[in-house]
Amino acid sequence: MRVPASLVALSLLVVACGGGGDAAPADDAAATPEAAPVQTASAGETTYQQVCVTCHQADGKGLPPSFPPLAGSAIMTGAPEMPIAIVLHGMQGEIVREGVTYNGVMTAWSMLSDEQIAEVLTYARANFGNSASAVTTEQVAAVREATAGRAGAWTEAELTAAKLN
Ligand code: HEC
Repeated sequence: MRVPASLVALSLLVVACGGGGDAAPADDAAATPEAAPVQTASAGETTYQQVCVTCHQADGKGLPPSFPPLAGSAIMTGAPEMPIAIVLHGMQGEIVREGVTYNGVMTAWSMLSDEQIAEVLTYARANFGNSASAVTTEQVAAVREATAGRAGAWTEAELTAAKLN
């Protein structure tokens, strides 16, 4: 049976429309922004962007020789009590990180809630190439209580001597 040319054209059209399936990835791409809320900044990232980023930078590498890196920082990724104590009371005095000498002052951020500090430290400990454990609100509350009598920013020596962990 001879297939009418019009039918051939129609089937080609159907195939072409099947090619409309090509439009599907475009649809998916268009849908991505809607799916984005799932991947929005965590609360910790938001606090980091609002508070810490000015000095320690978005990539956590700091701004040598003014602001030390949090990326690869032994203090940031070590016992959680140390970075908690730094955020609560600040840090000052000479330190040497990756061969660079810093002698700045980080002010205290004790006005942040225990939860915000836990979140921002959890973020910093799990980003910038860091992979340290999450920090809990309870850990922050405990350090806040244990260091309540502290006035002023820690020097590195004082922080070590405080034996917080
Ligand atoms: C105004 C600038 C500034 C801001 C904002 C700031 N820091 Fe700092 N931070 C510093 C400076 C300066 C030092 C080093 C102090 C010194 O020289 O002893 C430091 C040191 C640190 C250290 C110790 C790093 C190491 O390896 O010894 C940690 C941890 C840290 N900051 C975390 C944070 C977090 C988390 C935030 C946000 C909640 C934050 N900082 C906000 C300036 C800042």
